[in-house]
Amino acid sequence: MGEKHGYLPFPKSFKTICIHHTKEPKRETCKETMAPIVTSNICRLESAGGPSQVIKGRLLNPTRSVLENLIAKLCKTKYALTYASGIGAIAAVFSLLKSGDHLLCNDDIYGGTSKTLIQVCPNFGICTSFIDLTDLKSIPEYIRPNTKLIWTENPTNPTLEVMDLCGLSKVAHEHKLMLAVDNTFLSPYLQRPAELGVDLVVNSVTKYMNGHSDVIMGVVCTSRDNLYERLKFIQQHFGHIPAPFDCYQVIRSLKTLPIRMMRHMSSGIKLAQYLENHPKIEKVLNPALPSHPQHDLFKSQACGHSGMLAVYLKGTDLDTTHKLIDSLKLFVHAVSLGGYESLVQMPTLLSHRDTPDKLKKISGITDNLIRVTTGLENIDDLIADWEQALDKI
Ligand SMILES: Cc1ncc(COP(=O)(O)O)c(C=O)c1O
Repeated sequence: MGEKHGYLPFPKSFKTICIHHTKEPKRETCKETMAPIVTSNICRLESAGGPSQVIKGRLLNPTRSVLENLIAKLCKTKYALTYASGIGAIAAVFSLLKSGDHLLCNDDIYGGTSKTLIQVCPNFGICTSFIDLTDLKSIPEYIRPNTKLIWTENPTNPTLEVMDLCGLSKVAHEHKLMLAVDNTFLSPYLQRPAELGVDLVVNSVTKYMNGHSDVIMGVVCTSRDNLYERLKFIQQHFGHIPAPFDCYQVIRSLKTLPIRMMRHMSSGIKLAQYLENHPKIEKVLNPALPSHPQHDLFKSQACGHSGMLAVYLKGTDLDTTHKLIDSLKLFVHAVSLGGYESLVQMPTLLSHRDTPDKLKKISGITDNLIRVTTGLENIDDLIADWEQALDKI
């Protein structure tokens, strides 16, 4: 991976920023190197009738500020705002819209996002067209006078479609639309969409950025002052903020993000190569494989791929897929991704169970699809686990 394989170069000093940035803010009490966990939810006001001040912890928290400043640096944006979950960060972006607005969303998308768009946003008068955003030329025909936002993931959940982010940003900006990209599957170490012209970059911090399966958090990054001001207002007044302790946990986790991502990446490729050549596997999707239809596009936008794979068993039904999953011993059957442990799940029954059948069909979410995430275990053990499970079906 990295530059010599045709990928974008890894960002300069990223690893150093992860380690050293959290010495801020400068404190006078002692010279500790970790950010303090500040739990106070009240703030002492300097003087009655004085200038306006921060009046409570929901509006500003020092531990949260350290984390947000760090994430903004890693995402190469001016600002980052954290929320109580990834879906909370996504909801904050949708809250930028008002009643009567319309947005375009890719048809392959995380089931929680499509559920929010289909079951919540219409209550606020916001409607969505689900379309194929990989087909850049067709996008203008779906843009309406009230369209305000283009939303996608890169790569997508669960079938790892790759978007042309520069192309999308050109279309969006020609039509004066905001472009938002969910970067969860790669983390800022492997892809920084803001550098490619994306206005709003979302990450479910719960996944790779925290990486230890013990925090739920989301973040929105932007360099646009007006969007930051509105998102900040939404963060403060909808109040879906993360707790100081969780902010501290993520500050600590980010110190190891680059080394964790390198391991996820190498194991993901090795398992994908093994499965791709197995007679009981129909197809494996991993954008780092030359067999992926958008491999070259992917390399031009990212520094590498994570441990996310979409694996299609050959000609099997739901029962056989269940049997395979139940036979795996190391891969935990669970939703989520990006932690230290390897996971498997069937999108059609779990992460995308409420996705309308029409969208499932278009996206290729079928009964023989297993979403796989490789963790940090020994790769030979992970391959051996699949080998013994495949022998059982
Ligand atoms: C791509 C993507 N975005 C957002 C989310 C939501 O994140 P959270 O669980 O932190 O709310 C998920 C959850 O699986 C996801 O896969």
